[in-house]
Amino acid sequence: MSWFDLAGRDLISEVDWTKEEYDIAMKVTDQLKGAYYSRNPHPYLEYKTFAMMFFAGSTRTRMSFETAMTQLGGHSQFINPQTMRLSLEDKPGAGETVKDTAEAMDRYCDGIGIRLLDDAVQYYGQGDQVMQKFAEHCRVPIINMASDINHPCQSLTDIYTMHEKLDGSVKGKKIVIMWAWSPWIRGLCSVQGTALISAMYGMDVVVANPPEYDFDPNVTKQCRDLAAASGGSFEISHDLDRSLDGATVVFPRNWFTMGRYQNGKEKEAEIAKKYAGWKYSTERQKKLGAPGHLLQCMPVDRGNEADPEVCDNKLSWILDQAENRLHTQKAVLTLTMGGRL
Ligand code: CP
Repeated sequence: MSWFDLAGRDLISEVDWTKEEYDIAMKVTDQLKGAYYSRNPHPYLEYKTFAMMFFAGSTRTRMSFETAMTQLGGHSQFINPQTMRLSLEDKPGAGETVKDTAEAMDRYCDGIGIRLLDDAVQYYGQGDQVMQKFAEHCRVPIINMASDINHPCQSLTDIYTMHEKLDGSVKGKKIVIMWAWSPWIRGLCSVQGTALISAMYGMDVVVANPPEYDFDPNVTKQCRDLAAASGGSFEISHDLDRSLDGATVVFPRNWFTMGRYQNGKEKEAEIAKKYAGWKYSTERQKKLGAPGHLLQCMPVDRGNEADPEVCDNKLSWILDQAENRLHTQKAVLTLTMGGRL
């Protein structure tokens, strides 16, 4: 395995890359972040184009990828799929097929990013399926910018940020990924992704959730397998306060049940309301007996998922984490789109 093996590679699920490959991405991130702060130009992707299809809204992902391409000397194209003729239904009369769209786009650009989740999909797993289909029909790398299952660019950022903040030592540290009440009814990609990458790096991962909110069973199995291989651990608990005890890092986030697309949003909101007390509050943070740093991919539902004080105090990492999206994604783009350092 060499650094050049990442040229042309897709990144759709966290498990598409090995720990060694993420280690390489983090080394390149360090170089690029150093270049950024020392104002050294680094146009490794000059004349290259990254096409970005956003079926769902975004602040950080869109801005960090666009800025990344500017700083790497290339160009990003923002594409609102509603302005295309593409149909995800893939049947005669519905619109242009994924296959034809993908094969045409492949002729114009050097990489394609896709965000497809939440209200833009009709069933859990559809976002991932569409990305896999793009990958099947494209030679250029397909980068998942958030699907219904995974969010690997966010996950790389999370593990990079934890390494940065914990002086490189994440193995054996406890991270609690806690379900939190919010009327937003959010997807699972960020929480499942952070659990996968944390398990891959040997952390003690606890997912604290009410009984209705277990992860996708396939992702749970992947987490258990990764933890077994890395010497970390993976546990699911329905007892929030007991789970939080001794946590170095806490990720509070709302997510919907695996029945979201059968239930509809109203029923999901009813189920969620039973657990309105599930919040990362200032009081809870003070009782941990450990730092309980806030790691949250944002946007955060302030006052519901976490108290505003928890978002803004010295234990909060969220803005440094958001900035790191820029640096880690520059590494992913450079490595997959064939830049030479
Ligand atoms: N964390 C994240 O993906 O943020 P956006 O939804 O703003 O892109």
